[in-house]
This record gives sequence, structure tokens and C-alpha cells, in this order.
Amino acid sequence: MTKILIVYDSLRGGTKRIADLVAQMLTDSRHQVAVSKPAKVTAADLEAADFLMLGGPTYHKDLIGPMKTFLFKVADAKLEGKPGAAFSSFGWSGESLGILEDTMKNLFKMNLVVDGLKLKQTPVMAKVKAAVEPFVKQIDAAL
Ligand SMILES: Cc1cc2nc3c(=O)[nH]c(=O)nc-3n(C[C@H](O)[C@H](O)[C@H](O)COP(=O)(O)O)c2cc1C
Repeated sequence: MTKILIVYDSLRGGTKRIADLVAQMLTDSRHQVAVSKPAKVTAADLEAADFLMLGGPTYHKDLIGPMKTFLFKVADAKLEGKPGAAFSSFGWSGESLGILEDTMKNLFKMNLVVDGLKLKQTPVMAKVKAAVEPFVKQIDAAL
């Protein structure tokens, strides 16, 4: 059983929907999953996870403040080689996924085992499921 930590933030619910669904699917696959907002998470929490996921939406072509603050706070976490993946909700340009993945790869030296999920905002849950399912299947296969 893999210990998975999902750290995300969301202003209008899109990224939260992804995080909740990913957590539910990975729990159904019998992994131990914790989901947390960034303010509560420490470097030690990240280090204790077997698999780390970061999620955040794009606003004004950027990551939102709480996720940026969090990345500064945990900048010295020892995450080299730790497997992980990122996800984001976006409207039209979606820069946040690249920012998260760049940070995971270049600052933390993590091993991103799948391409991140970048999902265009939608209120239709079936569309969220259709995007999240293959993403989680890929992750599950890599664990
Ligand atoms: C003020 C504002 C600025 C936004 N800026 C961008 C942007 O620069 N690029 C983009 O792709 N989406 C942008 N969006 C759309 C959001 O990324 C989209 O609504 C996303 O689903 C929000 O995720 P959340 O519900 O997890 O907060 C913006 C939305 C608002 C309200």
C-alpha cells in the first residue's frame, strides 16, 4: 500500500474536484491517500509520502498565492527521486501545470511518473471523470 499525499488549492472548485476524484480513485485502488490544503503541510509531511501530487489552478497566467507560499516554505524538503505527478484546472492558457511540474522536477528533483493533468474548467462531472480516470490509471500502473 502506497502512502500518497495530495496537496492542492482551488479558488472556485475546479482543482478541488480533480483532487477529490483522484483521491477517491486511488483509495479505491487500496492506496493510503491524504488530501491537504497547502497551509497545513510541512516539508516532513512531503518527505513521509511515497508518492506526492501537487495541484493548482491558473489565475492571471500564474499559480495562486497559497501554492507559491507553500513552495517557498517547503523549498528545502528532501524529495530527490520521489515519484509524483501534478494536476490543474484552467480556463484558456493553463500555465500553473507547467509551473508545478518545473518546480517538482528542477527544485525538488522529483521523478514525475506521468504527464500532468491539465483540465479545462467544466461544471460537467462526467467530463472531469473522463479526464481523471486515465490519469489515475497511469499513476496506479506506475506505483
Ligand atoms: C480573474 C481570473 C483570472 C484567470 N486567469 C486565467 C489565466 O490566466 N489562464 C487560464 O488558463 N485560466 C484563467 N482563469 C480561469 C481559471 O483557471 C479556471 O476558472 C479554473 O477552473 C479555476 O480553478 P479553480 O476552480 O480550482 O480555482 C482565470 C479565472 C479568473 C476568474
